[in-house]
Amino acid sequence: MDSAPRTPVTAVIVVAAGSGQRLGYGMPKAKVPLGGDSILTHALRGVAAAGIARQICVAIPPGDPELHALCQAFTQDLQAERRRAGHAGDGGQLPVVTIVDGGATRAESVRAALAALLPATEAVLVHDAARALTPEAVFHRVSQALAAGALAVIPVMPVVDTVKTVEPTTGGGAAIAPELVTGTAARETLRAVQTPQGFELATLRRAHDAAASFDAGQAAAVTDDAMLVELLGVPVYAVRGASQSLKITTPLDLIIAEGLLEGPLGARWVEG
Ligand code: CTP
Ligand code: MG
Repeated sequence: MDSAPRTPVTAVIVVAAGSGQRLGYGMPKAKVPLGGDSILTHALRGVAAAGIARQICVAIPPGDPELHALCQAFTQDLQAERRRAGHAGDGGQLPVVTIVDGGATRAESVRAALAALLPATEAVLVHDAARALTPEAVFHRVSQALAAGALAVIPVMPVVDTVKTVEPTTGGGAAIAPELVTGTAARETLRAVQTPQGFELATLRRAHDAAASFDAGQAAAVTDDAMLVELLGVPVYAVRGASQSLKITTPLDLIIAEGLLEGPLGARWVEG
């Protein structure tokens, strides 16, 4: 009997509907140039290169014609590349690319994409377009954990800084400094969380259904999908992420991402 894990039919959701306030480019972050292309183009190429997606579902800012055209151009490039490589009939399927209007929060963008997945989908990876340089190996590690039976799995990195909790200072302390330290977290148990985060589809749908009724305060505290699954009491596994998966958030991050593509380390640095 064959006991090898079967790879579930997988969709990758790419959330790209944010406005990029902290990057400060005056345009949605997905459009911001990076190494001669846009951040979203890099992200989509990374997903396609990983070769795990039957469908790639992209959430973009509602009614953004440029990003819509960019996704369509990406689809055409995929098809042209496949024709050039003469892959027709080799069993490898091109992913279906679906474009949806994102929502006002990241979670709403994920929910819009969840509603547009193909009926055969069994597993889903949710990926930030802002993590445009995520290596293929990370997609594979997440995918393999799902195939091995995880209902939820996230890529993580060890934390290099000591992390403390604080509260605002009150009374006399306020004249000294704005915050007072309340504790120090045990660093060896801390992990910085990246994407793509992988889920059995029904589990993620259940988690997002529960979150759809959150009040504004609760909704604002939702920063990833795994935390919604944790609230259901479902175990969330962690695999190794990668430094290149940094989330391009601030201008400094964009400089680092440009450096990864163009700098002296670029070609040599193949950390998986
Ligand atoms: N995102 C989304 N829909 C939203 C908000 C965010 O699809 N309403 C996506 C972003 O496009 C990004 C990912 O979620 O790929 C992570 O969000 P973040 O890095 O915060 O991006 P922005 O929200 O665009 O940036 P900022 O918070 O600085 O405005
Ligand atoms: Mg944001």
